Amino acid sequence: MISMLFGPPGCGKGTQATFLAGHFRVPHVATGDIFRKNLKEGTPLGLAAKGFMEKGQLVPDELTCEMVADRIAALDCAGGVLFDGFPRSLAQAHWLIGASKGKAAQVVSIEVPTEVLIARIAGRRVCSKCSATYHETYDPPPALCRACGTASIVQRPDDQEVVVRARLETYTRDTSPVLGVLRSAFPVYVVDGVGAVEQVGQRILQALGA
Ligand code: AP5
Repeated sequence: MISMLFGPPGCGKGTQATFLAGHFRVPHVATGDIFRKNLKEGTPLGLAAKGFMEKGQLVPDELTCEMVADRIAALDCAGGVLFDGFPRSLAQAHWLIGASKGKAAQVVSIEVPTEVLIARIAGRRVCSKCSATYHETYDPPPALCRACGTASIVQRPDDQEVVVRARLETYTRDTSPVLGVLRSAFPVYVVDGVGAVEQVGQRILQALGA
């Protein structure tokens, strides 16, 4: 089963994906995390993505789809995968529809009002080593990351206000129309993303009948 978590920046895709990937025992494939890892390692892919990420724009489709194709060709994805933040352009959606022919797939669209998104992103802190996510108010970051035990919890560079604004504009312009294309190919479950993390997780499981 190919599952996709769809929604604007800060709606909780990464938070819910961590829980759902464990529940369904499939790899969590977050395109943003893969780009950040490549950026940190200074790979050609990371360097190519850097300027787009810093401006809150989408990384070009060709680079993104090639990276996803490589990732899902790995053995651990043979039994299914949970995408977080992919697809997010019309070209990526058409590519995935082609690549998933003959396989079961489903989409969860997480809805959250803009003012809540902004509050969530402003308070977000992440572990720069393992990508675990915390929030200054809702899940205060410990001195050492609970997932990997290192003192590497920081604010993401693209969580600064000016970049967040650009990311939200990119979402509205380039990504929100993708849902219509996905709906023509896969079942789409719309879930209210406001509420406690566990509550949203239960809503998703219920929507999926899991
Ligand atoms: P990416 O890393 O994917 O960022 P994003 O989609 O903008 O999503 P976020 O990570 O900001 O939010 P999220 O929905 O995962 O929320 P989270 O769970 O962290 O992409 C970054 C960049 O990479 C893009 O701008 C682009 O340049 C590039 N990129 C990535 N994918 C691409 C693609 N496919 N094509 C082209 N370019 C691509 O939650 C946010 C905060 O809220 C956290 O602090 C969390 O603790 C808190 N929180 C979560 N849920 C709740 C809750 N229920 N109640 C209270 N707090 C909550």
